[in-house]
Amino acid sequence: YFSGGKVNVCLFWWQKELQIGVAGQAVILNCRGIPQGMGVTWKYSKALIFSKGKATMTDRSEINPTSKHLKVMDLRLSDAGTYTCEYGSHTVSISLHVFKLTISLDGHFLPNEVPKLTLMQNSTHPLPNLNITLFNNNNNIVRPKFLQNETPQKYTLMLKQLEATDSGTWMCHIRSDSPLINQNISFELKVLGFQNLYSERKYATVDSTVILSWHLNFQQIKWKEGFTGQMNWKQQESATAHELLDFNVTARGEQHETKKISRFRFEIPESKPKSTIQVELSKVHFNHSGQYQCQLAYNGRYTHNKIELVVMKVSADPVGPLSRGAEMTLICQVSSPLPSNTHLLWKHMNGTPIDIKKSKQHAVKVEVKVSAAGVWSCHLIEDNDSKISLNYIVEEAPVWLSYVVIGASVGGSILFFGLACLCIISGISWQHRRQRAKRMIRARQYLLENKTCQCQQ
Ligand SMILES: *[C@@H]1O[C@H](CO)[C@@H](O)[C@H](O)[C@H]1NC(C)=O
Ligand SMILES: *[C@@H]1O[C@H](CO)[C@@H](O)[C@H](O)[C@H]1NC(C)=O
Ligand SMILES: *[C@@H]1O[C@H](CO)[C@@H](O)[C@H](O)[C@H]1NC(C)=O
Ligand SMILES: *[C@@H]1O[C@H](CO)[C@@H](O)[C@H](O)[C@H]1NC(C)=O
Ligand SMILES: *[C@@H]1O[C@H](CO)[C@@H](O)[C@H](O)[C@H]1NC(C)=O
Repeated sequence: YFSGGKVNVCLFWWQKELQIGVAGQAVILNCRGIPQGMGVTWKYSKALIFSKGKATMTDRSEINPTSKHLKVMDLRLSDAGTYTCEYGSHTVSISLHVFKLTISLDGHFLPNEVPKLTLMQNSTHPLPNLNITLFNNNNNIVRPKFLQNETPQKYTLMLKQLEATDSGTWMCHIRSDSPLINQNISFELKVLGFQNLYSERKYATVDSTVILSWHLNFQQIKWKEGFTGQMNWKQQESATAHELLDFNVTARGEQHETKKISRFRFEIPESKPKSTIQVELSKVHFNHSGQYQCQLAYNGRYTHNKIELVVMKVSADPVGPLSRGAEMTLICQVSSPLPSNTHLLWKHMNGTPIDIKKSKQHAVKVEVKVSAAGVWSCHLIEDNDSKISLNYIVEEAPVWLSYVVIGASVGGSILFFGLACLCIISGISWQHRRQRAKRMIRARQYLLENKTCQCQQ
């Protein structure tokens, strides 16, 4: 007989078989060495399990008719203890050590929330100090913050702030040397959110069609709870937000959307992918730029994701064709200041060498003075990539147009002169004709008078 308590415990372990159970799961207790066809009785803390329900786990237990193993389902911490299997004159003792892992908020989180894990253990023997290691959904070790564990019975761990991509099966690895425990308990974390991880910026040219999308991850993570949400737009950070649409998703994953505003022209695309929130802005206006924010609400908690829409336009001052020797200013403009890796650039396509004018850092526009016709193209360049571009065609007031003007005036005077001559000529001839007619009348009168005279004579 050993005097040391610890050694006593060890001895105790050798005599009894140790088995680990996890709360909420089932455990199968093995009656080792039982000959085939032999009857068996299972006891828990000396109480018969299957005699009029004396033990608490009776209604959650069953004996396998062939193997005689005892299966205890939906384990509880209080099921820990000594189980004995008796056949003939033999007794097999099993010590059941139960762990219970609970996750705060039942494992349902929104981004940036911090889960709290609680690990409890129960056993009839003294409880060991546990070595706990956590593996995330990518099977990488994470370092949680251990809160002061009050007793070896209970350990409290705080994880880090979650992201939607943390959704999945995590693993809690529990080890102890005495008694020898090497147990994994898996648990699910679901982080409802957007597959768009970060707030993004979208560039569009004026009058183009823009589709803004938010991919919700509720199907992917098998989120089985209802939630609601809305989509807002505001032109500037300080401006008031306008609700464009609201939506809800039922526990069965059915999604409903309702348009909330009529002044703002947008469509909900009919053929949009499943579990997305989408709006389509056709012929986008310069003043439809700004922040589009999609917000989710679950149990009074919120998360959101923003898309900033930046619209680009080009214009000329003065507008219209460029007359010879004149100058005009081409203006390329975006609706909000650009980040430092992005700038605007005017390029004269058919100039040799190619004329280029770059915007200053964080500027919202770039201007170029133009004195020759041609195609000018404004590009929004991000990290050397042209994201969007718009062309402006400068037309020279055509040369024939001036000829037409001169020609018209010359032609006009000729025409006038001609008409005048014609008038004069016709006027003269008319006068001549009148004189001739007068003479004729006079002659006729004269003749008549003569005749009369002749008749009279
Ligand atoms: C541990 O198990 C014992 C025996 O069933 C029970 O009396 C006790 O309440 C359990 N402890 C906890 C914390 O459940
Ligand atoms: C716990 O386990 C880890 C790895 O399994 C090991 O590195 C560490 O030393 C152990 N800590 C204790 C206190 O046993
Ligand atoms: C427990 O899980 C970890 C991580 O998935 C794995 O590396 C380890 O082998 C598992 N151990 C046992 C005993 O299943
Ligand atoms: C979800 O939205 C639909 C359509 O707008 C509405 O009829 C329904 O009552 C909403 N359900 C919930 C639970 O909010
Ligand atoms: C945007 O500008 C257009 C004309 O350029 C105007 O018709 C429209 O009402 C404006 N929209 C908003 C939201 O200010």
